[in-house]
Amino acid sequence: MTVLRSVILGCGSYLPERCLTNEDLAKTVDTTDEWIVQRTGIRERHIAATGELTSDMAVKAARAALAAARLDPQAIDLIVLATSTPDNTFPASAVSVQAALGITQGAAFDLQAVCSGFVFALSTADGLLKAGGFKRALVIGSETFSRILDWTDRGTCVLFGDGAGAVVLEAQQQPGASTDRGLLTSHLRSDGRHKMKLYVDGGPSSTGTIGHLRMEGRAVFKHAVAMITDVITDAFRATGYTADDIDWFVPHQANKRIIDDSAHKLGIAPEKVVITVDRHGNTSAASIPLALDVAVKDGRIKRGDLVLLEAMGGGFTWGSALVRW
Ligand code: ACO
Repeated sequence: MTVLRSVILGCGSYLPERCLTNEDLAKTVDTTDEWIVQRTGIRERHIAATGELTSDMAVKAARAALAAARLDPQAIDLIVLATSTPDNTFPASAVSVQAALGITQGAAFDLQAVCSGFVFALSTADGLLKAGGFKRALVIGSETFSRILDWTDRGTCVLFGDGAGAVVLEAQQQPGASTDRGLLTSHLRSDGRHKMKLYVDGGPSSTGTIGHLRMEGRAVFKHAVAMITDVITDAFRATGYTADDIDWFVPHQANKRIIDDSAHKLGIAPEKVVITVDRHGNTSAASIPLALDVAVKDGRIKRGDLVLLEAMGGGFTWGSALVRW
């Protein structure tokens, strides 16, 4: 017996040219490189140029992912773009990506689950591919959080950056064993009781403005590790794998302390953890595919490796995915 699995054929990413270091930030807000590095692990982040849109970055990441997969855009019939910073309230930024790539078949839509967006998008695309209506998907995370930051609030503006990452997924028949390639399991959660701990204080139906990101940093930190470990335990339970079986842990890159604490609690060895938060900051839905691309390009993640993804973010939302690369 065989089963349909969503196999990752390639990944790609894009970072805007402008790099903003902690020292640069210390010139405009009351902070220091030492404070930021000690509390978050972040040293620098990239900021989109004036006029550079979420969809522009998504197109660049998508093209790189298609090149890695050796596919023409016409092979794609589904685009799921995870973002909380779309070009416009509507249409979805995904249709701009679709048009820029010259794709006219299939469907394209945005998905909003803040920092968990990429895991939610991967799981959504997987479900649609397995249902049989689509053959190949681009799953993209792209964000211009620089546009929703309050650059006078040192508690939040030092944490985030811009960028995009993408993967190409293809529905393939696999033997139905745990050694199959592709997405083996995914687990999504949300709990709206926490929605005011991390939110944007504007929107089309409330204020009619874009708004700025607001966060109770300590409260987010307190919940993050427990939520992350819970949903990874779900992935282990569903597959029978344990922390020892994982080749690479690619977490959402919010804060190095959250990542270290989660890995420690789960028993995942530090050398298996992919860290990019030092160079990228928190790029929300883009952080996981950006980190995946770094670890594939530098030769760490190889075909057949077991790769564990997780994310947690505003809502709260949180999720995990276990992938055989
Ligand atoms: N530079 C210098 N001092 C600062 C800065 C800064 N950039 N930001 C805050 N401070 C000050 C505060 O004003 C406060 O000063 P006070 O004691 O005089 O009042 C002091 O530092 C401590 O502030 P806290 O907010 O309590 O600092 P904390 O140790 O909690 O660190 C941080 C803040 C880094 C935001 C931490 O709470 C955190 O990482 N939380 C998780 C949030 C997160 O990662 N969010 C990302 C989105 S969600 C996600 O993706 C999972």
